[in-house]
Amino acid sequence: MFALAVACAAAHAQPGADAIGERLAACAACHGEHGEGVAGAAYQPHLAGKPAGYLYAQLRHFRDGQRNNAQMTWLVRNMDDAWLREIAAYYAAQPPRTRPADDGETLTPAMRATAERLVLQGDPERDVPACSACHGQALTGLEPGIPALVGLPAEYIYTQLGNWRNGVRHADAPDCMAEVARSLAPTDLRAVSVWLSQQVAAPGARPAPAGSFTPARACGSLHHAGPP
Ligand code: HEC
Ligand code: HEC
Repeated sequence: MFALAVACAAAHAQPGADAIGERLAACAACHGEHGEGVAGAAYQPHLAGKPAGYLYAQLRHFRDGQRNNAQMTWLVRNMDDAWLREIAAYYAAQPPRTRPADDGETLTPAMRATAERLVLQGDPERDVPACSACHGQALTGLEPGIPALVGLPAEYIYTQLGNWRNGVRHADAPDCMAEVARSLAPTDLRAVSVWLSQQVAAPGARPAPAGSFTPARACGSLHHAGPP
């Protein structure tokens, strides 16, 4: 009896969470019922557990043209900022995804060495900080604006890095990711993308708390992303 009462109280403490989930049924086919991702997806990213500020920025960017994907842009074209914030908060609160490692593409020893160096140490000669200097030592991101790099398909990571290089994807200024992507060669980006897709986060690992470390460069994504 007591356990039941507690469960009901907990359910009531989150008014609207289920209703929001129902309104987001259209998103489930590509992102999973609670944004956990679709098993075996070769491209679509998961949404669950990503920083709310980051998710909100991406939804705005699809709507307003800083990111370009025909399906995403069409879906959010008529949504106002208040609803986008609610969507972002809903997915951010879901348990983070722990995707099995990709095994689609074999890393040569040279690719592995390049990837591990760039992800964990960076390349001082090209003035490129380590990915982990902004995405965190565990690569699980930093609240409120930097997402995890683990749990994503290689094709998705590689395409996003290419989109930054080609000016198809823009983050809020200063766009530190555009600088990183433009400083690296496509072969480097490929190695890093495949390597990252083969890493697995500890179950339930969340983005590092806001302010818990200072990223290697100023990134507008952190400064513009307030709490949702
Ligand atoms: C037909 C498949 C499809 C549907 C339906 C869909 N998405 Fe997406 N979504 C994608 C793809 C593909 C991407 C990656 C786009 C790119 O390449 O930039 C994406 C990206 C996103 C991102 C950015 C994720 C990140 O890590 O940067 C968010 C947020 C998002 N979708 C939210 C939604 C929401 C909310 C809905 C429902 C209203 C939705 N999506 C419905 C396919 C879909
Ligand atoms: C100076 C800080 C910084 C460094 C260094 C950095 N990133 Fe990022 N990264 C960011 C920020 C900030 C974002 C969020 C951008 C936005 O709001 O769209 C991001 C987003 C991304 C995304 C998009 C993820 C998604 O779900 O769509 C990918 C992929 C990515 N970074 C890969 C990398 C890789 C690979 C490296 C190392 C080669 C790297 N980053 C180094 C700051 C950084």
